[in-house]
Amino acid sequence: MKIKRHSIIELAEHWTVAVSGIMLLFTGIGELPLYKRYYFILNIPGLGWAGDYFKHLTLHYIFAIFFLAAVIFHVLYHGLRKDKGLIPRKGDMGRSVKVLLAMIGIGKEPPSEKYLPEQRIAYLGMGIIIAVLTLTGVVKIIKNLPFVYMPPLLNGINTLIHTLAAFLFLVAIIVHVGIVIAFKSNWPLLKSMFTGKIDSDYVRERHGIWYEELKREGKADD
Ligand code: HEM
Repeated sequence: MKIKRHSIIELAEHWTVAVSGIMLLFTGIGELPLYKRYYFILNIPGLGWAGDYFKHLTLHYIFAIFFLAAVIFHVLYHGLRKDKGLIPRKGDMGRSVKVLLAMIGIGKEPPSEKYLPEQRIAYLGMGIIIAVLTLTGVVKIIKNLPFVYMPPLLNGINTLIHTLAAFLFLVAIIVHVGIVIAFKSNWPLLKSMFTGKIDSDYVRERHGIWYEELKREGKADD
């Protein structure tokens, strides 16, 4: 039996943020402009344009529209629905350590809610980084308006924070994708990120607390 894990809206939110986020990193690095310094990148077929600052800037703006729209939608939609599944709870740190140790074969994994405790902590971390990135990004858009003057010191500090947050964002994505791919126990979650569905046996085994809830609501059997 399959259980519904994500709605179409949630899948669209995740993949819009993921694709536009990765493209924002690629074009942001291009604005520095780093690819011109490492010529082999410009020699990769199809990437000849990657040395052009203005192309990166234009694409950065376009992906920022998708990213910002998805972030604002996410906050409003889940805020209004009062969804709390990914909000960290008391004791998540300790339980995360147990989940991560179990992933490498040490000890037994405690039963989880719909999301694992380490996913809730990752969500908070990702959320803080994304909030800093978008706020400093919006300040940069305002600064670029022809009729706006921003003192160079303020602009420099804002740019520094934006660049540091982008670096943390890159690290967070590498860790996030790494944990999903490196551990076989997470592969059904990856599949659910495309199909929206997950095997009930997997839920019973790993997300025991969520499974009990689903049973009470008549959405899972036995
Ligand atoms: C900018 C890039 C991305 C961001 C900001 C992002 C963010 C998130 C967040 C906040 C969650 C919920 C908490 C968690 O599981 O950590 C999540 C879940 C997930 N993401 Fe990503 N993600 C990104 C890219 C990706 C990519 C490229 C993959 C593919 C390997 C991926 C696969 C998943 C999976 C499998 C889940 C778990 C879904 C579940 O629990 O059912 N993500 N993502």
